[in-house]
Amino acid sequence: MNFSTSLPLTAKRLAGKVAIITGGASGIGASTSTLFVKNGAKVIIADVQDALGQSLCEKLTTLNDTTNNDDVSYVHCDVTNDNDVKNVVDYALSKYGKLDIMYNNAGITGDIEFSILATDNDNFKRVFDINVYGGFLGAKHAARVMIPARKGVILFTSSIASVSCGESPHAYTMSKHAVVGLMKNLCVELGAFGIRVNCISPCALATPLLENAMGADKSFVERVVCESANLKGVVPEPEDVAAAAVFLGSDESKFVSGLNLMVDGGYTTTNQSFNIVLKNLMS
Ligand SMILES: NC(=O)c1ccc[n+]([C@@H]2O[C@H](COP(=O)([O-])OP(=O)(O)OC[C@H]3O[C@@H](n4cnc5c(N)ncnc54)[C@H](O)[C@@H]3O)[C@@H](O)[C@H]2O)c1
Repeated sequence: MNFSTSLPLTAKRLAGKVAIITGGASGIGASTSTLFVKNGAKVIIADVQDALGQSLCEKLTTLNDTTNNDDVSYVHCDVTNDNDVKNVVDYALSKYGKLDIMYNNAGITGDIEFSILATDNDNFKRVFDINVYGGFLGAKHAARVMIPARKGVILFTSSIASVSCGESPHAYTMSKHAVVGLMKNLCVELGAFGIRVNCISPCALATPLLENAMGADKSFVERVVCESANLKGVVPEPEDVAAAAVFLGSDESKFVSGLNLMVDGGYTTTNQSFNIVLKNLMS
């Protein structure tokens, strides 16, 4: 998918919106930051990878004819640190006077260890700290400013691991279930204030997170993803998640809340194990 060309003003689906994207320096977050800017949003990239975040920020200020230095910022924010999260939300308020979209996307896989007996307890807590507590803090500080405004959108990146189990370590799978639980509870509480809350659950995608977890390069990861995919003929990319985030962040989805949107080409709809075993045994 090519997001390199600028869109006409009328096609800017997030024109005037102010968004914070955690984990915005890399992978899905970087693709979403890019597509949000292309769609006219003012974007605050919140991450702990300062050099990467700064360089993406500089690149994005030259993306559209209309984008200027004030439209994209990088703010150091460790999502597990309440002060950091408070600070980035306050930054949005002081710079733009509002926060329209809080995208809690930062996440880690933790150790790739599938055995409960071998799971390291500190690793377990670290995964929950970033994936769950980090999302909770993001939602809490966003709600602090969105409730008085009586509008806003809170998004989370969950995963297919929120519905399909056994392919990720326990802590990761549990954390992604927890994110969906938080999203649903918030949807109910914050609906009264006009705030929409949704999750996006991607399938496996070639980003630094998965490349590192698999110890493989982009082309090998994409090969595994495509060969195991339900939907053939396309390579799933971080930009597909970004496109879902634009939809959920825009007014096009103004009555969509409480949704865990699978971006997985139907992967979690089916289980091909029986057919694969049968085919192998019969061949
Ligand atoms: N890539 C996949 O296959 C896949 C599939 C499903 C869900 N996801 C989820 O998508 C989200 C984004 O992952 P990605 O694949 O783009 O990975 P990535 O590693 O490319 O990006 C994750 C970003 O989060 C940041 N981050 C990590 N800890 C942080 C912290 N404490 N505070 C702030 N930022 C922090 C990292 O610095 C990085 O920039 C994660 O929540 C991940 O669980 C990824």
